[in-house]
Amino acid sequence: MPQNLWDTAEAAELPDLDGLVYRSNLLGRDRAVVNIYGGNTSAKLTLTDHMGRQVRVLAVKASGSDVLTIKASQFALLRMEDIEPLFERDAMTDEEMVSYLERTVFEPGRPRQSIETLLHAFVPATHVDHTHPDAIISLACAPDAEAAARAVYGDRMAYVPYIRPGFTLSKWIGGKVRENPNIECVIMGKHGLVTWGPDSKTTYDQTIRIIQEAEDYLAEKQRGKQVFGVLKVEPVAEQARREILLEALPVIRGAVSGRRHAILQVDSSPEVLDYVGRERTGEVSQLGAACPDHLVHVKRQPLFVDWQPAEGIEALKEKVRSGVLDYEERYVRYFEENKEPGDELRDPAPRVILIPGIGMVTTGKDVTNADVSRQLYHRAISVIGAAEAIGGFNSLTPKEAYDIEYWPLELYKLKLAPPDKDFAGKVALITGGASGIGRATAYKLAQEGAHVVIADINVENGEAVSADLQKRFGKNRALFVRADVTSESAVIEAVQQVVLQYGGLDVLVNNAGIAGGSPIEETTLESWQKQMDILLTGYFLMARESFKVMKAQGLGGSMVFVGSKNSLAAGKGAAAYSTAKAGEVHLARCLAEEGGPYGIRVNSVLPDAVITGSSIWDTEWKEARAKQYGISVEELNEFYRKRNTLKVEIFPEDQAEAIAFLAGPRSAKTTGAILTVDGGVPQAYVR
Ligand code: NAI
Repeated sequence: MPQNLWDTAEAAELPDLDGLVYRSNLLGRDRAVVNIYGGNTSAKLTLTDHMGRQVRVLAVKASGSDVLTIKASQFALLRMEDIEPLFERDAMTDEEMVSYLERTVFEPGRPRQSIETLLHAFVPATHVDHTHPDAIISLACAPDAEAAARAVYGDRMAYVPYIRPGFTLSKWIGGKVRENPNIECVIMGKHGLVTWGPDSKTTYDQTIRIIQEAEDYLAEKQRGKQVFGVLKVEPVAEQARREILLEALPVIRGAVSGRRHAILQVDSSPEVLDYVGRERTGEVSQLGAACPDHLVHVKRQPLFVDWQPAEGIEALKEKVRSGVLDYEERYVRYFEENKEPGDELRDPAPRVILIPGIGMVTTGKDVTNADVSRQLYHRAISVIGAAEAIGGFNSLTPKEAYDIEYWPLELYKLKLAPPDKDFAGKVALITGGASGIGRATAYKLAQEGAHVVIADINVENGEAVSADLQKRFGKNRALFVRADVTSESAVIEAVQQVVLQYGGLDVLVNNAGIAGGSPIEETTLESWQKQMDILLTGYFLMARESFKVMKAQGLGGSMVFVGSKNSLAAGKGAAAYSTAKAGEVHLARCLAEEGGPYGIRVNSVLPDAVITGSSIWDTEWKEARAKQYGISVEELNEFYRKRNTLKVEIFPEDQAEAIAFLAGPRSAKTTGAILTVDGGVPQAYVR
């Protein structure tokens, strides 16, 4: 139920553009009113230009922003005086429209205006909202959409049948409002709603009231009906569902990542579990997309996996694999049947996968995109259900859907996006990521597009790194898991969390470590054992669990083991540490051999003397090393700098650079290798 959230005190003092921002943000708070990234709002304002003249300006949402978070700077400002004469034209192509509007800019440097700008310009009201509310789209997707809408609004509305947004649709809408000054809204077939008013508050009230009327009407029609049929598959209990997902997600990720690596999101909310388990869901889910806004993020159809829990997990995996292949074939056919000269096939993999008893898995090039698909499919469920209750769901036809999906103006938005980075769509697990080399690697890989999981025992630092990465690179782009790498159960749990969070794993950086040094006679069994546990067993456990996921995905993978100069050079007074470090490198080479057939590469980076930024050097290690070399602790930095061939100090970021190289596509043909990052230490030259 849309709530009127207007706060008179909050909105009172806001000047024109800020008032529009306020209204837009309020509309976005309810996704049943405006879809994420969907809808657009505008105001016709009088602003002062660079010459001090008063100019009528259309402030309209810019393309690619979301009303919930939009700021004043994300509204395009265009000169109304230049736009108004366009209403007299009979037709205009998209290209003409875009290039014309580019010349009407009031203030340079703002983002490009929404593709529905003319709709706002042609409606003769100061403020205009164009939204895609669930309830309105349900009416607009009824078999006779106009009649369905009239049943709610009578003569208080105008109706325009579906055509792709552009000049003609804008002119139709503007014309209807001009011809019928008493109507309260325009309903757009298979698309959405237009409302308007003299000020922000009246417009907002109007938008919410109109939607409320549709919701009340539809609630009445849906009462007592099981629109998706009876519940055929009960939701699987939480623990069993988790186990199924842990096995199925890497397989799904592998299946949908044929063209580009995808990040997955799982939705097992009660609403989704109910939907996927209903008798008619397999059929109604395939009817098509409800409106252009949904389509762009969820594709024309989801993949419905016709599976029942009693069939078992192996059957599910098989059905996912064959289901994705079949889906992609159908998608390519749809492309071939509708394509225009010059069109290039987009990723044919599904964005939404429905699994009875388990829920919905959505895919995207990153976690944000996967989540947008998830949110939008919730909207689709609501729309399809209500439309089914009033006579059936009449979706966009394949041709209509294609014309949106391959619309040059939509593709333009994609073209604006920067090219994919090396780790785009990839998931990296970094042990010991809370400090030093691991932390620098987490930033480096995130910078290069990775979704980063930090496994560490240092909760405070680990959470801080994860929070900062999310602040810089986006919500849910990083995750901290508390895991002691020496504990088998903790390692298993950590890797499971990675799978549940993102659907799989591409990169493991085995790095968590400590330093230790003592003459052999003084090395206790406990100290020896501790170093073996963390440095060797920890690397083994993480590698084993990660290997399983990588193999199940079938997408290859990459592991980087952070060894040490001591992996190769005999560390006097550090036998336990050096032995463990040597073991790490050999383990890496063994796993390179085992991983080869699956495209899993395993390489090692050997640092030396990374003192700045490393917390292992905060401990008695510094003292032990200084004592070993007969110098003071203060002299250590200088000592190590002078000791290497290049006479340079080594930083965590230098290690991160090498780790990123070995973890990423630039070293695609390298495995079992060792890369020293130590300024040159002859004892550790690889031979
Ligand atoms: P650091 O102490 O700054 O970071 C290591 C991280 O590992 C810490 O956040 C720590 O909490 C975590 N950790 C320790 N034990 C753990 C456990 N049981 N489970 C999970 N996490 C655990 O150290 P730095 O320098 O970044 O070291 C990283 C790796 O680089 C280590 O393997 C170390 O042996 C190696 N290395 C470091 C050199 C240096 O000079 N800093 C030189 C050669 C190798």
